[in-house]
Amino acid sequence: MSFLKNKKVVVGVSGGIAAYKSAFLVRLLIKAGAEVKVILTPGAEEFVTPLTLSTLSKNPVYSSFADEEKTWFNHVEIGLWADLMLIAPATANTISKMISGHADNFLLTSYLSAKCPVYIAPAMDLDMYQHPSTQDNLKLLQKRGNFIIPAESGELASGLSGQGRMAEPENILQFIENQLQLNLPLVGKKIIITAGPTYEAIDPVRFIGNYSSGKMGYELAQQALNLGAKVILISGPSHEKLEDSQLQLIKVTSAKEMLQASQQYFSSADVFIASAAVSDYRPKEQAHQKIKKSSTEMQLELVKNPDILYEMGKQKKHQFLIGFALETNNELEHAKAKLNKKNLDFIVLNSLQDKGAGFQKDTNKIQIIDKQNNSFNFPLKTKKEVAKDIFEVLLKKMNTE
Ligand code: C5P
Repeated sequence: MSFLKNKKVVVGVSGGIAAYKSAFLVRLLIKAGAEVKVILTPGAEEFVTPLTLSTLSKNPVYSSFADEEKTWFNHVEIGLWADLMLIAPATANTISKMISGHADNFLLTSYLSAKCPVYIAPAMDLDMYQHPSTQDNLKLLQKRGNFIIPAESGELASGLSGQGRMAEPENILQFIENQLQLNLPLVGKKIIITAGPTYEAIDPVRFIGNYSSGKMGYELAQQALNLGAKVILISGPSHEKLEDSQLQLIKVTSAKEMLQASQQYFSSADVFIASAAVSDYRPKEQAHQKIKKSSTEMQLELVKNPDILYEMGKQKKHQFLIGFALETNNELEHAKAKLNKKNLDFIVLNSLQDKGAGFQKDTNKIQIIDKQNNSFNFPLKTKKEVAKDIFEVLLKKMNTE
């Protein structure tokens, strides 16, 4: 997954020959899942047309302070809209104006209004690039918190060869991705999440299971990935899908298999989240052939399954442990008892008495209770938003404990 997914990106293009590459850049950003708005300086319009960039960005392109009907464009709004601003190519002229705070075109006014991180990809001839004014300007822009994506070396439009070409669009994207990743709070952390139901075989065609869809666990995995973690998702049978280079998906069927996978990876994990609805019992014997119907009644002898979370609680050292409790009565009391018994850092309680919470739903209503007995209540939300809330609490706790 790209860290640019769903990011709002303003691409500012100034007037140099490298402006033609902005079309490729916008295409790559869109492919990465970003929402893009382009601003052209008057000089850039000589090199690349607004129509090309509006087609690629799927948004109108801004190049002046007002449209033909003299409707004013709000540069403050677009500056504040952006999660990230990328000025590519940034000419020597634009760079120098950014230093002095000039505001004589729409790109510069948007730059001055932006509160987001700004990435600058300079492009110019080699001597202009090496000139002390340019070098000092770039250093000062960096000192002011902007990110400079160094120009690359090669053949230049002047016919000369040296450093000054705008970094290739792929390299610009890689630079930004690396930077975004560095700033994510869970980079370098490994998180194990159990999800979905378990199926306990009775015979080759029947099992004991439950209605858990796995939705909550998969949303938690997605959110952990968004925050930069490496994720091991140990999933019981589920129709949910997730793919990511940072994700290891281990598909299991029974509680015993889920325990085995959890034990294999637990020592190297930083966080263990048990959102699976594990079957409490399994048939004592598993028939090798399909059981034939015979008498009007039949007995199935069950034995208790291992409690995976309890086992991890016993082995816990540095790990942060989070459990779920789905209760129908005396919710708080039961949840607190589980928190203590399983040695958890916090427990996420969802009550079946809450409309919209529980199995197979897209929404959930949770309450988080921590081991210090603090309690946090949340309204009914989508499971995606619930996953965000859970990680928000987790991050706060990881930073304070
Ligand atoms: O005790 P109870 O089943 O209500 O506890 C629920 C919590 O314990 C959930 O986090 C669930 O994933 C976990 N659990 C487990 N193994 C079991 C039963 C529950 O990991 N056998």
